[in-house]
Amino acid sequence: MNAPARSTTGVRAPGRAEIAARTLRTDLWWRPPLLTTLGLTVFVVYATIRSFVRTAYWVDEYHYLTPFYSPCVSASCVPGSTHFGVWFGELPMWVPLAFLSLPFLLGFRLTCYYYRKAYYRSIWQSPTACAVAEPRAHYTGETRLPLILQNSHRYFFYVALVVSAINTYDAVLAFHRSTGGFGFGLGNVIITVNVILLWAYTVSCHSCRHVTGGRLKHFSAHPVRYRLWTWVSRLNTRHMQLAWTTLGTLMLTDFYIMLVASGTISDLRFVN
Ligand code: FES
Repeated sequence: MNAPARSTTGVRAPGRAEIAARTLRTDLWWRPPLLTTLGLTVFVVYATIRSFVRTAYWVDEYHYLTPFYSPCVSASCVPGSTHFGVWFGELPMWVPLAFLSLPFLLGFRLTCYYYRKAYYRSIWQSPTACAVAEPRAHYTGETRLPLILQNSHRYFFYVALVVSAINTYDAVLAFHRSTGGFGFGLGNVIITVNVILLWAYTVSCHSCRHVTGGRLKHFSAHPVRYRLWTWVSRLNTRHMQLAWTTLGTLMLTDFYIMLVASGTISDLRFVN
């Protein structure tokens, strides 16, 4: 009788310690992955609902547009929210109004090096934590479909730069009242802080670090790129924090604009 084939990779591979228990850890190793799953679930559920409801996403009086609907470029968008013009006709209800940017933003976050670590551990369980065996017998890493597509991250990064520029334009327009002239309220503070943090998250990307300083043999021959790489590297050490903070500020910005747009609250105005 033939012996069952042994996996050549993973924790059951020859040469690995033969430990029957999944882990010998006695600390709360399951807590960080659990919290990560809860955090990501809250954002995904909120963002999905808000992206499809098509209500309360634009405050005409103060030109506030939620980032979940930017850029709005179809005839389905409410008048005033089409900052870049109307490029498409009416969209069916199952198409989000920000269909131009959402797939790329989703791709950018899904392939982000930090989020990979987060959902590989929490959702994929591969592995759940250090010294905790993953449930699968085989390990192929990111060498096959679908995970090999993670290599597209650098391209999503370029599109994310464009989307950040669009969000910046929306934030600048929000300082103009519909009746003309300058206006400034709590909504502007929230929108502007969100845009600054989105830039920080985008620029702190590992791909940006490579774009600014990668493949250089001698930093001394490229002082400007070296300086940029130094700044990006410093920001890069905060990438995880920025990844989570921007999920929070995106929801907060959208939620605040939803409350003002629906008439639930009034915007706190500092300059009318
Ligand atoms: Fe996270 Fe690029 S590594 S956005």
